Amino acid sequence: MSDMKYIPRLYGRLQDKPLKPRQAQLMETLLPKLAIPDPEVGRLNLKALFPQAEEVWLEVGFGGGEHLAWQAAHNPAVGIIGAEPFLNGVAKALVQIDDQGLQNARIHHGDVRPLIEALPDGALTRLFVLHPDPWPKRRHQKRRMISPWFFGEAARLLRPGGELRVASDIPDYIRWTLMHWQRAGGFEWTAECAADWTDRPADWPQTRYEAKALREGRRPAYLIFRRK
Ligand SMILES: C[S@@+](CC[C@H](N)C(=O)[O-])C[C@H]1O[C@@H](n2cnc3c(N)ncnc32)[C@H](O)[C@@H]1O
Repeated sequence: MSDMKYIPRLYGRLQDKPLKPRQAQLMETLLPKLAIPDPEVGRLNLKALFPQAEEVWLEVGFGGGEHLAWQAAHNPAVGIIGAEPFLNGVAKALVQIDDQGLQNARIHHGDVRPLIEALPDGALTRLFVLHPDPWPKRRHQKRRMISPWFFGEAARLLRPGGELRVASDIPDYIRWTLMHWQRAGGFEWTAECAADWTDRPADWPQTRYEAKALREGRRPAYLIFRRK
């Protein structure tokens, strides 16, 4: 994984509660059908994964999968890949995919970094990183998903006009993201007034972490960067 390979894993727990019976069953029956081929094996063939799709989107760290399922349901012509190492999150996403009969979602149960590196140039038209783990301690900042590596890969993967969407409710992470965006080049920030980043757009459903942040009195920022 290029320069990322020496960095410790970026995520916290891999499982909390035991899975409910239906979740456990879907992990065995549905996940193998939706799973992305092992990215360590080589470049991914997106046409084989999504033969009908006009575009491919990727969500990094989908948590409980609410945003992934909503986007898949509202954008049937798009193929959506979600990556998440947290077992309970993957199981929750599978239940939504099954309940809604979604045909255009694929899952990578694991670290998104090898998947990102296995995607071909210009593979994506949207890339979502919603409420990434904040890693507030200075000595842990190198674990943050938003990084020079990430912006470099986002620039490689997104076609001109494609969008990188980042949400955070942590002021330091918002500043961090804007600092890395400025340093990276390759993207314009679409905001023209404060409401463009303080108000969640209509085509951006609420995630579990956003709801938690609002309950706890933190106001998220919704950042949209467009690939030049
Ligand atoms: C704070 S949670 C936010 C979850 C969800 N996006 C939301 O807004 O509710 C961050 C998520 O990123 C996932 N994550 C952390 N590192 C990751 C990595 N390297 N690859 C994929 N997902 C990762 C974590 O497991 C966790 O579910």
